[in-house]
Amino acid sequence: MLSQRRDVRPIPLVDLPAEDALVGDAVRAAVARVADAQEFILGDEVARFERSIAERVGVPEAVGVANGSDALVLALTAAGVGPGDEVVTTALSYFATAGAIVRVGATPRFADVAEGSFNVDAASLERVTTAKVRAFVPVHLFGRVAPMPEILELATTRGLAVIEDAAQAIDAELDGVRAGAFGDFGCLSFHPSKNLGGWGDGGMVLCRRAEDAPRLRRLRAHGGYAGVHDEVGMNSRLDALQAAVLAAKLSFLERFGAMRRERARRYRELFCAARLEDVVRVPEAPTVGTEVVHHFVVRCVRRDALREHLFLRGIGVGVYYPRPLHLQPCFASLGGREGDCPNAEAVCRDALSLPMSPGLEPSDQERVVSAIREFYRGAAP
Ligand SMILES: Cc1ncc(COP(=O)(O)O)c(C=O)c1O
Repeated sequence: MLSQRRDVRPIPLVDLPAEDALVGDAVRAAVARVADAQEFILGDEVARFERSIAERVGVPEAVGVANGSDALVLALTAAGVGPGDEVVTTALSYFATAGAIVRVGATPRFADVAEGSFNVDAASLERVTTAKVRAFVPVHLFGRVAPMPEILELATTRGLAVIEDAAQAIDAELDGVRAGAFGDFGCLSFHPSKNLGGWGDGGMVLCRRAEDAPRLRRLRAHGGYAGVHDEVGMNSRLDALQAAVLAAKLSFLERFGAMRRERARRYRELFCAARLEDVVRVPEAPTVGTEVVHHFVVRCVRRDALREHLFLRGIGVGVYYPRPLHLQPCFASLGGREGDCPNAEAVCRDALSLPMSPGLEPSDQERVVSAIREFYRGAAP
């Protein structure tokens, strides 16, 4: 087995210790506050954090839950999606997006991503929308908002619910609207690797209609209130500890978003200087809206060999995602075939996520690009 060189400092894909150093004592003070209060699940910390997020995203209500996957399940349930329904989502996402659709008893249908984008193609979405489709689940992948105006227009024409998977896109914006505030519901993940990440799991459902929030609050607590259960929900509550950590980190989110965009700009500059355009396609800066660069993903030839080359040089990279959702073995019975979503399939073959964190050093970015240049062009000059 090949092993990493030990004489070079590793550059992680996501550098949580560097982020923690920037956040400083704020998070530890928040943890101490929860330790003093001894109130660990829901409570004031969670209610305060829910209000901060609702205000920030621009929705009337936000409901804290145990993780982003549950947020999707709960939002689909609140939208009335269930057995016999179909739901259209993108073929390119983390598994949870499709898993949630199945967990509410519905059947996923997969649309392709647009050429040159990682987000769903509205025309493909329309093509796979059958009479049984009850909702759309667009994903704002890697921190860039999906084509929401087109998706909302189609949903309105067909009378469908829209549940946004904004797990990777808190603070991303298009036409002055933030990710999670376009649809009937928006779902956030606070997994530690996310742009706003906790010290464990966490998630949130954003509600465009305030009247949906009480039902969601019951659904996250087994569907009941004060011992009376009108329906069966799940146990999916946000910890006070996570809410306190996340609230402390929230005040850094805007600055961290700008730092991520600056690092994306720097990568573009370095790749341009490296003259690798025949082998590495770098994502252009968006012409509309604001991205939050959850991942910086390039498309490259001989991806797996390059990945190995970088790994050996201590450079952490990721493959998001190695297999599109329509070709997952667990969905074989749905009849998905290679060629159904050619753009998503191509991304799964050639996309590589490079190190990206607010604290990523310019010299480390230089090392990443120079190692990539070395792979394609031989030893750096
Ligand atoms: C696009 C997407 N959807 C859903 C999820 C699920 O979130 P969680 O891991 O908090 O359950 C994630 C994150 O992992 C994600 O990236």
